[in-house]
Order: sequence, then structure tokens, then C-alpha cells
Amino acid sequence: MQQLPNPKKLLSQQTRTSSIKPAFHEIETPAYVFDLELLRDNLKYLHQLANTLNVKIIFAQKSYSFYSTYPLISRYLSGSTASGLYEALLAKEEFPGEIHVYSPAYKPEEIIKLLKFVDFIYFNSFDQWQKYFDLINQAKKAGRKFQVGLRVNPEYSETEHDLYNPAGRFSRLGITAEMFKQGVAKYGLEGIDGLHFHALCEENADSLAKVLTSFENKFSSYIQQMSWLNFGGGHHFTRADYQVDLLADILRDFRLKYPEQTIYFEPGEAISLDTGYLVCEVLDIIQNEINIAIVDTSATCHMPDVLEMPYTPRVFLLDEKYCKEGYYIEAENIDDQSLKNPNVIKTNNLYRLGAPTCLAGDVIGNYKFPRPLKINDRLVFCDMALYAHVKTNTFNGMPLPNLVTLKSPDNFEVERQAAYFDFKNRLGSADVK
Ligand SMILES: Cc1ncc(COP(=O)(O)O)c(C=O)c1O
Repeated sequence: MQQLPNPKKLLSQQTRTSSIKPAFHEIETPAYVFDLELLRDNLKYLHQLANTLNVKIIFAQKSYSFYSTYPLISRYLSGSTASGLYEALLAKEEFPGEIHVYSPAYKPEEIIKLLKFVDFIYFNSFDQWQKYFDLINQAKKAGRKFQVGLRVNPEYSETEHDLYNPAGRFSRLGITAEMFKQGVAKYGLEGIDGLHFHALCEENADSLAKVLTSFENKFSSYIQQMSWLNFGGGHHFTRADYQVDLLADILRDFRLKYPEQTIYFEPGEAISLDTGYLVCEVLDIIQNEINIAIVDTSATCHMPDVLEMPYTPRVFLLDEKYCKEGYYIEAENIDDQSLKNPNVIKTNNLYRLGAPTCLAGDVIGNYKFPRPLKINDRLVFCDMALYAHVKTNTFNGMPLPNLVTLKSPDNFEVERQAAYFDFKNRLGSADVK
């Protein structure tokens, strides 16, 4: 076997978050900045991983749909997966390669359109599959070639957040072993080519091992009949501590039992992990027991996972005077709990970062900066090329961030300029009489 690619050796791992990029000073804010060199690093790595392990890695669009980079991604990954008709159409228009689609339920008009172009379609229940059985057969008779899969629930997950746990109690995502047994008894499996599960979230190979064991325990009697298996997303392949040797062991053991099945992975985050930024500017600084910097970005509108997950993004102050060996000094996060201590509130250069919206909780976090903040200072939030721009909204009339590609540290291009139209267009039509 070829040497396994090691995620720790990702070319720019060290420079991902903090190296000086002169372009950050020139970009109109707020802006998502997509670093193409870093994205290419991840893609090269994933391509090598797929080849070495003899698996297929496809790209889950839901985490990142900055489609002007789809041609680049498609050079390294063999296909993409969609969460429904619209993402599938986006793939058809912008992403050369296999198109997979999974939705917990499809409407007839969606299925009619999807069956014209997708390569893989996954159903979430036997009833949905059966509902469209005739349409599937008609499309096949008319010469369309595509694969049909069922999503199953492995009934095990290591994910701690209920919001992101597809195998949690009462989950609607995937067929449970009991329902699968009943479905097979009623309808059989003829016409089903593969099985899919997705039960990981930002996880390492040790979690995959456990989920896979549960999947096998519950569904082993059906696996042999399948031509492929899709192990879903949530694999943090491009993280420096990813257990790539363990992944290879897991796949080797699995293949001893199931040598014929093609194995798919469909990560989203791993594609663009640590490859993007959100650049913003300080608009005002006020005091209310603590210093508060109001910035031209919003947790609710531009990085909703900060509130939903919740998590605290890494942030840097753009000031070359406060750099160390070519790297910006990262601001230190101080959690809300620590602020209960009055001495902590007095920490030098501590600021709570908040949005210019009316939502009291639209706060990004509390950070200690290397120097006092000033109006017009620029701040850069890290790891913003995933689940950020796909989830944006214009609540309060917040402008969307511009979309910018960074080709090298000082060479950028504005791919999309945000405008008032983005806000108005989403909210209605001017023609109502
Ligand atoms: C079915 C499915 N596949 C793939 C993904 C991508 O997961 P991630 O971005 O965590 O890798 C998700 C995420 O929710 C998903 O629901």
C-alpha cells in the first residue's frame, strides 16, 4: 500500500489561521475571505487519501456552497452530495462529477426533476422509496442510469450536541434497524443498490470505528447485497490530529468482510476546514461594566453556529506591530462564566464583541487583545469557510458579507459585492397591488 498522507504535514497547517495577509487591510468589510491556497491544500490531501485508501470522497455542499470554487474542488473530488433539489441543481450547474442527493422526504415535483439528472438518490424511508418506485422505473426504462440508496440510522453516535446528533433519541434521520426489518419484509430490497449512514460531527476515526460497529451489528445481513456503502460526513480528515492510521485499519478490517462494496465518504467541513476568514471592522466602543466593541458583523446573521453550537471563534487583531515571527497574536477568549469574577472584568484590553443589531444576545464573545481596540481596527475571525456563508440571513437589515477569494497573501478578488438588493429581494415583491 502507498504511504498514508499525514494531515499534520498539510503544507500550510501552521499558517492557516494567523499568518500576515496584507489583503486583509484592503478588503471592504464585512467579508468572507476564501483562501484558495489553503483550500487546495485540503483538496490535495483528500484526493491522496481517497486514492491511497481506495475509497471515494465526495463533497457535501451543505457546509460550503461558494460555487465559484466548485471547478477547483471537482479537480480533486469525484462528486458532490446535495440536501435536496436546489443543492442538486447547483451541483448540476457548477460541479462536474457524480451528483448524490438525500432528503428526509421528497415532493413528487422534486423527484420528477431530480430523476432527470442525479446519479445517486437516497431515501429516508421504505414508504418514500415505494411512493416513487414507478417514477424510478420509468426513468430507468427511458435510459437514465442512477443508483438508489436507503439511509439507515446506526443508532449510535458520539456527538454531544443534540442539535447535531442524527442518531439521537427520536431522530427522523435514517431508518432504524427495526423499521428496516419491517420494510424488507414488506417490500424486499430489489432496486436498492446501497446503504448510507451519517452519525458523526467533527469527529475522529475512533468515533467512526464505534459507529461502524453499530451499523454492522444492526444491518450486517443486508450489506452483502449492496454494491456500495456511504459512511456519511462529519469525518474531520483534514484536522492535524486526525487518526489516519486508525482509519486505514478500520477500512482494512471492514474490507476483509465486505470486499466488494465501494465505500463513499461525504464530508463537508473537511473540505474547507480552516481555509476561510470573516474580516470585520470596529465601529464603536462603549462601556457597560466591561468594554464593548461593536463590529460590522453579527453572530446571528454571519456566523449563527456561534450561538447555535455554541462555539467561540478564534480572532486576531490586524496590527503588524502586534505580530510574532510573521504571525498575528491571537486574542485570548474569556468565557462568560469567568466574567462573574469582578477582577476578570477589569482585565486589560478585554472586550466583548457585539453586533450592530438589536438582538441582545447577538454577541460573538469576550476577548483579551494585545492592545486597546480603536475604532476602525480590523478583526479577523478564523475557520469561517464552513457552515457560515451558507447560513447567513439579513435579520435587522444586516448587509451580507462580501465574498472574496484570496489567491495569495496580497492578491484578492471580490467575487460578490453585497447590496441592499440581497435584503429586499428575499423579503417580497414590489408588485403586490
Ligand atoms: C447526510 C449528511 N452528509 C454529510 C454531511 C456533512 O457533514 P460535515 O460537514 O460535518 O462533514 C452532513 C451534515 O450535516 C449530513 O447531514
